[in-house]
Amino acid sequence: MEGSQPAADDWWRSAVIYQVYVRSFADGDGDGTGDLSGVRSRLPYLAELGVDALWFTPWYLSPMADGGYDVADYRTIDPAFGTLAEAEKLIAEARESGIRTIVDIVPNHVSDQHAWFRAALAAGPGSPERALFHFRPGRGEHGELPPNDWESEFGGVPWTRVADGEWYLHLFAAEQPDLNWAHPAVRQEHEDILRFWFERGVAGVRIDSAALLAKDPELPDLAGHRGSHPYLDRDELHDIYRGWRAIADEFGGIFVGEVWLPDSERFARYLRPDELHTAFNFTFLTCPWDGERLRRAIDETLAEHAPVKAPATWVLCNHDITRTVTRYGRADTGFAFTSKAFGVPSDLELGTRRARAAALLSLALPGSVYLYQGEELGLPEADVPLDRVQDPMYFRSQGRAPGRDGCRTPLPWAAGEPYAGFGSTGDPWLPLPPDWPLRAADRQAEDPASMLSLYREALRLRRTLAALHTGPLRWLSEGPDLLVFARGENLVCAVNLGDAPVHLPAHTGILLASGPLDGEDRLPGDTAVWLAV
Ligand code: NOJ
Repeated sequence: MEGSQPAADDWWRSAVIYQVYVRSFADGDGDGTGDLSGVRSRLPYLAELGVDALWFTPWYLSPMADGGYDVADYRTIDPAFGTLAEAEKLIAEARESGIRTIVDIVPNHVSDQHAWFRAALAAGPGSPERALFHFRPGRGEHGELPPNDWESEFGGVPWTRVADGEWYLHLFAAEQPDLNWAHPAVRQEHEDILRFWFERGVAGVRIDSAALLAKDPELPDLAGHRGSHPYLDRDELHDIYRGWRAIADEFGGIFVGEVWLPDSERFARYLRPDELHTAFNFTFLTCPWDGERLRRAIDETLAEHAPVKAPATWVLCNHDITRTVTRYGRADTGFAFTSKAFGVPSDLELGTRRARAAALLSLALPGSVYLYQGEELGLPEADVPLDRVQDPMYFRSQGRAPGRDGCRTPLPWAAGEPYAGFGSTGDPWLPLPPDWPLRAADRQAEDPASMLSLYREALRLRRTLAALHTGPLRWLSEGPDLLVFARGENLVCAVNLGDAPVHLPAHTGILLASGPLDGEDRLPGDTAVWLAV
């Protein structure tokens, strides 16, 4: 195979990064919540799966009003998960297994239990403590109306009034007050936090809500507003990230930004060589299972990354998004938060076939790939009983939106054990669906046709096939239902999104297929194959 493996410090350009939602990964101490000892005990599984890095959703001290995205202290691990010493051990042990660690920083907001916010509440209007946040008087005769017309990302009014009459801004839940990024102390503190974690050996940082931090100091109404958006994608952000990049460069660390932006030119600005290394590809993630749409999403992605020389990322789901198997089995196979509803039917067999094909598609594209825990087990979205729902998205929508708990259910490890081997000795924080044992990792490990076996084999091949790291992508097919492309000179990936089987392109060998082929040389619908040519 021509091409070469990437240089060691370019690992992130084509890495496979596995997202660990700690709460639901593995419960080491049996208390119902996943934890760091659970992750440590499963490092051999992750090494065998063949991932290059782990991204941990926030593991810091938190009242968990938003699953840890409400951070009370970045330098303390939440006691439900473990201790700082244990996090350090985990980072070191993972590295010994060849796996790097990425932590999650949430700069837009903190928890309302964070020392800064408690001090701001105690200090009162006009105080320097309040200047770290966005406190404002209300509108209306008695200040009884919110200061502007913005809407929370979780629905409802993004302002909460405190006892002395002032309001504070929270683009997410009320327990997540937004920081004032125009304040130098906010910037300084985050630069210190980055150093704190890089000094502990982490290889990268995921940046939560990366395009929301900077606010127009006037906090103007959105209705009738002209000019730059008052809180989305403001130009000031680039200066902040240039500062962060200088720190990452001291440690050889990398960033992945959560940047939801429809405008590809604006998106690419975050990936300029002195800013973030990578950002999540939401165009691909939200794209329906449709040949033309996927081809367009891939082309647009590659075109927007090329001028800034940043690698693309390929993501099919995460802890916010409906699980892939369920989404691809529905009539509408795209994803939008606004269209999430209860009771949307899904053909899980069809969804699984497509998810298998999508796995081979995304693992064959140039760039890095994110894999969300349980995706390698083909887990569907779980139905969480309403009395067990935890997600603030559900509560803030007054129960209209199902929220995100369905993709956050604890993982099944062992078919024959209580709670499918998640590790809890009593009911876990979210219930496991009754059929989870059928999908348990130990069962799948024995079955060559399982999703786990497919991922293991694809990742094993990906490590050995240099073309998948450095080979350029060249399209070989046109046609609405067929995606065929070469990586370098010796490898071809073909995906049939139609109903009817198609002839395989010329090849010298079949490396891996997402499902059984039709005879010797026909690729059935919703199936993908990697070919040697
Ligand atoms: C994006 C995270 O992925 C999500 O889980 C969280 O609720 C919001 N940012 C707020 O931090």
